[in-house]
Amino acid sequence: MTNKELIERVSATFQKRHNTKPVLTFSPGRINLIGEHTDYNDGFVFPAAIDKGIVSGIQKNNKPTCSVYAIDAKASHNFDKNNLKPIKNGTWRNYVIGVIFEVQRTYKIESNFDIVFAGNIPSGSGLSSSAALENSIVFGLNELFELEMTKEEMIFISQKAEHDFANVKCGIMDQYASMFGQENAAILLDCRSLESTVFSVDFKDHEILLINSNVKHSLADSAYNERRSVCEKVGSMLGVKALRGVTKAQLQFIKEQVSEEEYLKALNVLEENERVVEASIALKENDLKLFGKLLFDSHNGLQYQYKVSCAELDFLVDTARNNSNVIGARMMGGGFGGCTINLVSKAGLSAFKEEVKHSYKKQFSKECSFYNVALSKGVHTIKV
Ligand code: GLA
Repeated sequence: MTNKELIERVSATFQKRHNTKPVLTFSPGRINLIGEHTDYNDGFVFPAAIDKGIVSGIQKNNKPTCSVYAIDAKASHNFDKNNLKPIKNGTWRNYVIGVIFEVQRTYKIESNFDIVFAGNIPSGSGLSSSAALENSIVFGLNELFELEMTKEEMIFISQKAEHDFANVKCGIMDQYASMFGQENAAILLDCRSLESTVFSVDFKDHEILLINSNVKHSLADSAYNERRSVCEKVGSMLGVKALRGVTKAQLQFIKEQVSEEEYLKALNVLEENERVVEASIALKENDLKLFGKLLFDSHNGLQYQYKVSCAELDFLVDTARNNSNVIGARMMGGGFGGCTINLVSKAGLSAFKEEVKHSYKKQFSKECSFYNVALSKGVHTIKV
């Protein structure tokens, strides 16, 4: 579904259900060029917002409760905004009410309201539909109730909602990229200081291709939180808050006191941070070959050291590695499923897609999907 259709759908559904016009927000998903599992270690990431996302409509009501309707799930939820708790297996509901709960810790919301939303990011694809949903709610509330929050405040509210209501102890990358994205650009973000550098992205005769393994990742069920606690454990043994400040020599020093697995995970964080910085220099210098190599190296680290990949993602990256039209590829996002990001020559794009389509089907008896994305601007209000 195009964004235009999505906006019309949310707007029309809202008016049909509630007989009034909503404040409409577009909130994008994100890709990440490189820098995985570094954000919660205060490290570097290199994401961009994309032209797929969530559209939400929100308006005040005079009813005794608030409501939210998820068009895609065809499900609604009524709630008392002053009595919110995480819902067991609440899926999308927890992102929405988690944000509303967090906002009200600081701001007074003077009336009840209704929300309707829908999206065109395939869920579980590692393109951050959850951060997009959270950001759309916080942004919509901010507009509707004129709360005058800063964008930074909003992304921390989204992140806290994910921690406390969805029980995923995520970093700040997804919410940041979705909120601050810019057209045709990726953002090198220092997750310690939130200092950012915007890189305009033009891969010339190459382009980004996302391949969805169609393995649904679930960060809460997966070992995401466990990876984070390993990093925190190693960090605390070294007397630092986050692995960002640690050198390889320091890590070596405690090698005997941690398991081999823990050591390799911590090492991967340090190496991935180095790769992000190197990749940003390569991009600046138009050295696409090096940039691509760093993507492959990143995948290796995530596969063998950080252990957040899966057979399907490894297969997709191996296929890319063996195809001369692809100069770099890796799994993207939290892992255990979702998409790979590939840098493919425009001339060889369709041949590569054909090859992957058939070999993936043959290997796993299921389809993979291909997405082209445009790098786009962050969360914004839609005027209709
Ligand atoms: C998920 C999290 C992010 C980040 C990535 C891995 O997308 O939400 O904060 O940790 O995984 O890089």
